[in-house]
Parts: sequence; C-alpha cells; structure tokens
Amino acid sequence: MISEKLLDKFSMGYLKETDTGIFIPSSLDIIRQAFIHLLSKDIIDLDKPFLDAGCGDGRIVALASSMGIASWGIESDEELTALAKHNLINLRALGVIKETTAMIHRGNFCDNKTYQDMNIEFTDFGTIYNYDNNHENLAKKIAKDAKPKTIYLLYSGDEVKEDFSGLIFLHELALANRFKDASIGLEVPQGFVRVYIKG
Ligand SMILES: C[S@@+](CC[C@H](N)C(=O)[O-])C[C@H]1O[C@@H](n2cnc3c(N)ncnc32)[C@H](O)[C@@H]1O
Repeated sequence: MISEKLLDKFSMGYLKETDTGIFIPSSLDIIRQAFIHLLSKDIIDLDKPFLDAGCGDGRIVALASSMGIASWGIESDEELTALAKHNLINLRALGVIKETTAMIHRGNFCDNKTYQDMNIEFTDFGTIYNYDNNHENLAKKIAKDAKPKTIYLLYSGDEVKEDFSGLIFLHELALANRFKDASIGLEVPQGFVRVYIKG
C-alpha cells in the first residue's frame, strides 16, 4: 500500500500550464508499481541518486524518497516548486519521508547551470524520470552527458513507443491505477513506463 498520508497529500486536483510545458500529475500507484518491479530486477539502483526532471508538486520525489532512494526534483514553475517543497516538508513531519534525501530545486533540467546551483553533477544520477514533458531534450542530454548505464524512465499515456538516439530501449510496463477512487481525476487511469539505458 502507498502510505495514505502520501495519497492524501497529493489528492487535490491541480492542472497547470507552465512556461516549459504542462503540469499533469503522475499516478502514484502506477509509478510505485513500476518502481517495485524495477527495483526487484535491479534496474533501479537504490544506492544511486534519482532525479524527477520536471517534478511538478513533488509527488514522485516523495515516493522515491519514501522507498529509500535519495531523490532530487527540478521544476521550472515557481508556484509548483514552492508547493513541492511544502509537500516534502509536511511529509517529513508526518514521518512518510525519513532520513533519505528529498530535495526540490527551481530551474530548467536541460540547463547545466541548474546542476551547478544544486551542487550535484548530472552524471551522479543513476535514474532519471520524466512524465513526457520536454522528454526529447532530456533524452538528448542523457545521451550526451550522463554516465553509461544511466536509466531513463519515461512515463506516458501514449501507446506509441519513442526511440532516442544514444539510448537503448530495455523494457515497457503497461500498468493500471488501482486507486481510481483516490485519484484526482487528472491522473491517467492507465499508463506506460518505458525504460531506456544509456549505451
Ligand atoms: C507532466 S508534469 C509531471 C510532474 C511530475 N513529474 C509528476 O510526474 O507528477 C511535467 C512538469 O515538468 C515541468 N517541466 C517541463 N519542462 C521543464 C524543464 N525543461 N525544466 C524544468 N521543469 C520542466 C512542467 O512545468 C511540469 O510541471
């Protein structure tokens, strides 16, 4: 079960057009199922930092951190960045997020300066997540700048799989949200989590 506190915190309906794209929340249930599967197959490495590129309200950073993965989120939108920070502070106070790192930063995930400001190298991330928003540019950055074997997780409601130069497609998970009643009506009821690896 996902902690009810995690679901409660992210149960509010919210959709927003931002300067860089559109905020639509991932389904926490779908992404949690994906993480459990990918951790069990050693595709996600618990010991390597996780990045949600375009983290919106911070839900996926919170989820990954609550599962013990040191997690960072980058968001361009000022209001969403503030909301994400606020959500993480509350979830830490509630004990959902424990000692594991959970950090939110305002910036552009395609811009090297963002990583300098965050005091972390782009090459440090073992897993990079995106809910298809500027995902082609992110794929190019991973192909160019990330360490070999970096995992790119791309969540999408689109049935058509994309290929990216420099990245090898490993796996697709087709998953359904089992918490339809708890969902906020904006989350897709079913979605695809596609796994790519930098060659
Ligand atoms: C579809 S939402 C996903 C939010 C969150 N990752 C989730 O899964 O619930 C995409 C978010 O990425 C942000 N975004 C898009 N391009 C960005 C960029 N280049 N740098 C920072 N944030 C970006 C948008 O502002 C939006 O909030």
